[in-house]
Amino acid sequence: MRNRNRVLTALLAAFLGWPSPAQGPARPKAFFPKADLMPVGVYYYPEQWPREQWARDLRNIRKLGFDFTHFAEFAWTYLEPSEGHFDFTWLDTAIAEAHAAGLKVILCTPSPAPPAWLGEKHPDIYLVGPDGRRREHGTRANCSLSNPRFNASVDRIVTALARRYGHDPRIWGWQVDNEPGAEPDFSPSARLAFQRWLKQRYGTVAKLNEAWGGSFWSLRYASFGEVRPPSGVAGEDKPSPHALLDFQRFTADTQAAFLDRQAALLKRHCLPTQWVTTNYTNVTQGSDPRRTRTIDFPTFTFYPVSGSNALGGETFRLGNPYRMAEALDYFRPIAGTTGVMELQPGQVNWAPTNPKPAPGAVRMWIWHAFGGGGSFVCTYRYRQPRFGSEMYHEGIVGLDGLTPSQGGAEFIQAMQELQALKPEFDTSAALPPKLAARRTALLWSHDNFWDLELQKQSEGWSTWRHRSLYAVAVKSTGAPMDFIRETDDFSAYPFLVAPAYQLASASLIDKWRHYVEGGGHLILSCRTAQKNELGQFPEALLGSRLDSLIGARLQGFDMLPGNATGSVRSEGQAHTWRAWGDLLRPAEGTTSLATYADAFYAGASAATTQRLGKGTVTYIGVESLEGALERSLVRGVYQRAGVAIDNLPKGVYVEWRDGFFVGVNYAASAAALPLPAGSRVLLGQNPLEPSQVLVWKEVAPSPAGSP
Ligand code: GAL
Repeated sequence: MRNRNRVLTALLAAFLGWPSPAQGPARPKAFFPKADLMPVGVYYYPEQWPREQWARDLRNIRKLGFDFTHFAEFAWTYLEPSEGHFDFTWLDTAIAEAHAAGLKVILCTPSPAPPAWLGEKHPDIYLVGPDGRRREHGTRANCSLSNPRFNASVDRIVTALARRYGHDPRIWGWQVDNEPGAEPDFSPSARLAFQRWLKQRYGTVAKLNEAWGGSFWSLRYASFGEVRPPSGVAGEDKPSPHALLDFQRFTADTQAAFLDRQAALLKRHCLPTQWVTTNYTNVTQGSDPRRTRTIDFPTFTFYPVSGSNALGGETFRLGNPYRMAEALDYFRPIAGTTGVMELQPGQVNWAPTNPKPAPGAVRMWIWHAFGGGGSFVCTYRYRQPRFGSEMYHEGIVGLDGLTPSQGGAEFIQAMQELQALKPEFDTSAALPPKLAARRTALLWSHDNFWDLELQKQSEGWSTWRHRSLYAVAVKSTGAPMDFIRETDDFSAYPFLVAPAYQLASASLIDKWRHYVEGGGHLILSCRTAQKNELGQFPEALLGSRLDSLIGARLQGFDMLPGNATGSVRSEGQAHTWRAWGDLLRPAEGTTSLATYADAFYAGASAATTQRLGKGTVTYIGVESLEGALERSLVRGVYQRAGVAIDNLPKGVYVEWRDGFFVGVNYAASAAALPLPAGSRVLLGQNPLEPSQVLVWKEVAPSPAGSP
């Protein structure tokens, strides 16, 4: 039976152009036919419920409208009750019951929850924190990813799972691990692995000493064997920032290799139709999803109602207004698609305070994921747990295992609405020209992020916040946005924003120049290109490598302590700032867009723009407190380029996907969305109330010259 399925699937795969494991990199889009729009699923933990309830629960999941379920990411001790002895009978039953109910299955590798027996036998598998304390059994994600014994144990369970289920067409795809966090590890295994990583990177210890500035404080090493992971524990004076940056890189590489290793083992046995992903947190800061090679595409987890009150009033019930948009635009371009692997179903248990989401919020997040290109949405979890550390976490159904929660009801509604939208799907829909004209890329690198965080200089500085100010400004125009990397083709985007891109090689600066000369519109912000790609200052005046590109000279920078603020004026408006202000002197022919209004440098420029070749370069040297300055300066770049833009209020988004425009509103008041005449509303009402959704189609403009 299995063999027959395999042959059939192989034929189908060849026909549809799916990749075979031997063909190398997968083609993520082929995994998710567009006509399915966005399948929706839910986590289920068979091991937590009486076996006689599984069939009932899985049938009910299907009846509510879900397309798939998700099993086993914490079930290691049930899969391998003792070393090398596997028990798949329970999982066989659960998969059979899911299939009988009409559900596809995402199967997970259980690496975040090693069994007690493993740690008792091999205590060296555990991670050691910066405080020197070894983690023990009793929690999750507590192991050293550098430990050979832990890795061998993971290999064994993953291989066993792959052999058993890799040829099983009931398995839709795989998730490896859970929310990989790349925690810094100070265990003996990590120290050895770090030394190997450095040797690989630098070759000789002399090169390492040079890169780390070993002559400073006599920190140089005589051999790689002397190196320890730099701890940066409070109370110790600062280790070398280069050592800290490399340790971050090593930690992220180790995490990526851990995921890739599992993915490679799976792929050895899996059908080409089965995809492999992992579920990063939406603000993944230690892990770098762009470092994996074998994971087909990244997904993310999303729990927005846990304290953020960015837009005031009751908007905390709608969740952080920026994160879903940013996560979709960040994760989707990495491999051409993404999915939301965990979407908050209601109240959670783990934040300091866990308020109730507003009615409609859960449905709005589902629709936002759809608009932003999500290939699927899954929610954690079906049943609210009756025991364990997440007892107060809501599920799709309540404690009786049957009654839908408020969030459950919203999932049901959204799934029905998605079904109703399917006949509207148009295979030929292409990005409308008005959106293509404002396509924007945001340049992002985790290395750069880490380096800025390691030498913030200003206590008010947050690199993540800084990037958000720019992402929010771009999204206010209604532009489609992709986060991209240095190696990507910039010319695919008429607009390119590189916020605080501190680590810049000479070739990146050249690439920016070519992009602009060819007609691109480049926006740079403070701190950009101060350091080279190694994280050292070049032997030249600070920032001077940008002089001719931006048409201005950096005179220095300032930042203000405590609650002090400064004032900067632009287009007759005053803006306050605190965390960072570059002081600029524009060259002849360069326009100053903003000026400092106080302190001894009043009159110095805070932002400039110049034409260069066929394009423009705008440098915004100051970070404003509320982001209004960034918003107005970024919008000005599109306007001067003659490109039409929208003017969406904060927290209001319009996304385009496969011919559908999707509007969502995280703000406190209603917003009128820009629907051109002739638009056809498919769902919701304009103006758009908070927590509501508007879906519409626009009539394509007739080609020029036609009647
Ligand atoms: C996620 C995690 C899940 C579950 C959930 C609770 O971060 O991946 O396993 O703990 O939070 O909200």
